[in-house]
Amino acid sequence: MSRKFYITTPIYYVNARPHIGHAYTTIACDTIARRQRMLGADTFFLTGTDEHGQKIERAAQAAGKNPEELTTEVSSAFRALWDRMGLTYDDFIRTTSERHKRGVQALWRRIRDNGYIYKGTYTGQYCVFDELYVDAVGPGAPCPECGRPTETVHEENYFFKLSAFADKLLRLYTEQADFIRPETRRNEVMSFVRSGLRDLSISRSTFKWGVPVPDDPKHVIYVWLDALSNYITAIGYGSPEKADQQKFEKYWPADLHMIGKEIVRFHCVYWPAFLMAAGLPLPKGIVAHGWLLFEENKMSKSRGNIVRAETIVDVLGVDALRYFLLREIVFGQDGSFSFDALVQRYNADLANGLGNLASRTLTMITRYFRGEVPYPSSQAARTPADGAIAELATRAIAECSALFEQYQFSRALETAWGLVAAVDKYIVENEPWALGEKQDQHSLARLATILYTSAEALRIVTALAHPVIPDATAKIWAQMGLGEIKKFPLAELKWGQLPLGIKLGSVQAVFPRADKSAIERMQSMEEQQRSAAVAGATEAQAAPKPAGTGQFATQAAPTTAAPPAAPSKAAAAVPDGKISIDDFAKVELRVGQVKLAERVKGADKLLRLEVDLGTEVRQVVAGIAEAYAPELLVGRKVVIVVNLAPRKLRGLESNGMIVAASPDGGKPVLCGFLEDVPVGTRLK
Ligand code: MSP
Repeated sequence: MSRKFYITTPIYYVNARPHIGHAYTTIACDTIARRQRMLGADTFFLTGTDEHGQKIERAAQAAGKNPEELTTEVSSAFRALWDRMGLTYDDFIRTTSERHKRGVQALWRRIRDNGYIYKGTYTGQYCVFDELYVDAVGPGAPCPECGRPTETVHEENYFFKLSAFADKLLRLYTEQADFIRPETRRNEVMSFVRSGLRDLSISRSTFKWGVPVPDDPKHVIYVWLDALSNYITAIGYGSPEKADQQKFEKYWPADLHMIGKEIVRFHCVYWPAFLMAAGLPLPKGIVAHGWLLFEENKMSKSRGNIVRAETIVDVLGVDALRYFLLREIVFGQDGSFSFDALVQRYNADLANGLGNLASRTLTMITRYFRGEVPYPSSQAARTPADGAIAELATRAIAECSALFEQYQFSRALETAWGLVAAVDKYIVENEPWALGEKQDQHSLARLATILYTSAEALRIVTALAHPVIPDATAKIWAQMGLGEIKKFPLAELKWGQLPLGIKLGSVQAVFPRADKSAIERMQSMEEQQRSAAVAGATEAQAAPKPAGTGQFATQAAPTTAAPPAAPSKAAAAVPDGKISIDDFAKVELRVGQVKLAERVKGADKLLRLEVDLGTEVRQVVAGIAEAYAPELLVGRKVVIVVNLAPRKLRGLESNGMIVAASPDGGKPVLCGFLEDVPVGTRLK
């Protein structure tokens, strides 16, 4: 029987629409789930929405809706977005569903029957934003976690004997060092528990929006006990059905709860204590990641500084967002989001990196070997450089896999992209295009070895990167004639598996390059959303959380208004006779490499060129025949205006223009570089 792997995201509050902070957690989990499936694990990936509690009840009131309406609307928005992004969750739990309510009540009964629930009176402060009982003193005292004013609660409540679990919890953290990761979070939790645990109020009686306490429906169950239970109710806990019970037996305990750092206390203290009290097994591990910051603050609805995933998905695609979040941010630490950084990363690593490697390798195999992966040749046509790529790829597989196991996504991707860079260099240094023009046996054998080596390395990077960028890698895999990538057994990945002679599919670019206009489009889409949100805002502006401190902060944050949305940039004045940088950016200049050059019949000045731009090969007709012999141009790097409208010269379509200096009365001189520049690089 195959190994199982059960992974969960936090369930998201439905008082706010999804933003890329929520997407970040879900993408990280999706990546882990996809990788586990490729490794052969029977994987179960759970996500969902947290829909009860005072905060949601009030959000509904503020929006003039009943809670059922609001929760259904926002929960559907989360689910629709996850679907649109192709996230492969196996179940989506809503805490307002019957199956969940039944399960929470079953858990309550079990804890109560084991003697860990008693009735008492709670008098103290409550933070509705964090849905947390806090130690603040006096009406309106600021919440030690978020700085917002707390409310005084004086209620007869049910209490959970949390104090009885301090020693057991400390033992758990000590004996199972990887129960809480990273280490910094574990240390925070340990000192919190060491400072003493007081019993926890686990019911409320002054509002109704929650799961009724069994046998005492005047009370609703504390929203965090309700929410945390989703991890077991979704897989069948509390269900009378045999199939559900078997499912629970099969998947529980969870292998991984992935959370943001601000909810560590709930997951690492309360949740294991509830499970211990119920006599249920504990999750195997909890991993807390950092925050996504925008304009230096935690991205959140209350601060009004959110970026929506839809915008990025529309303009650059899902893979771009996934890759950026996992490559740019060191998992566990806070990281900043900016559109500039997103596009820069996209172009450098995806368009010019993996995308360019795929298109140039596959295009050359198509051109020189009729689209069939060539046989690497005999010893005579081998050089140490070929072996070095194979060795590097073997190391990359081992290192990348180990880093993924530790959820070090950024370093794992860095390792895989080290191979992309090495193969790029290998191709440039070995000039397969020059060999392709020769007809002798040795050149052909050498060309076969170079292209086989490049394609095999490409296959390996593609397999390693698949969990992170599933769409593009699935396309590259299919273009390589390898079928469905998600069925590939990742644990068996090694150098030399590329089937010789396999026929490639049609070659298409997977990551078209993005330019400045992509940034402007995304910024303006978000600005429009923000102004719409400000115009329709119903929620009061709230105080920002102290960045980087998480929920164990003891200092209250000063109450300041949320920063206004960034003003849209006014167009800078451009003096007469000048053009703005935006005008210049409209001209797309790229480095190309001449693959073929020949004279145009009946035209003394014209040459017909085929120029490789990395993602495609263009026909360009250029008036340079009097200055350059065609055979001297093959292999030469040139600069092409790639977004010029096509035009016909002597019946031949010219798709772009070659850039040359044209001295008065002299012959044209082609623009070139003293240093080596990769094919496809943009000039700006
Ligand atoms: N409903 C609770 C969780 C209950 S789990 C039993 C909750 N919801 S939340 O919607 O406020 O946030 C949930 C999670 O969304 C965070 O823990 C984090 O994983 C993710 N994020 C929300 N904003 C984020 C950032 N700005 N940055 C990174 N992650 C973010 O807390």
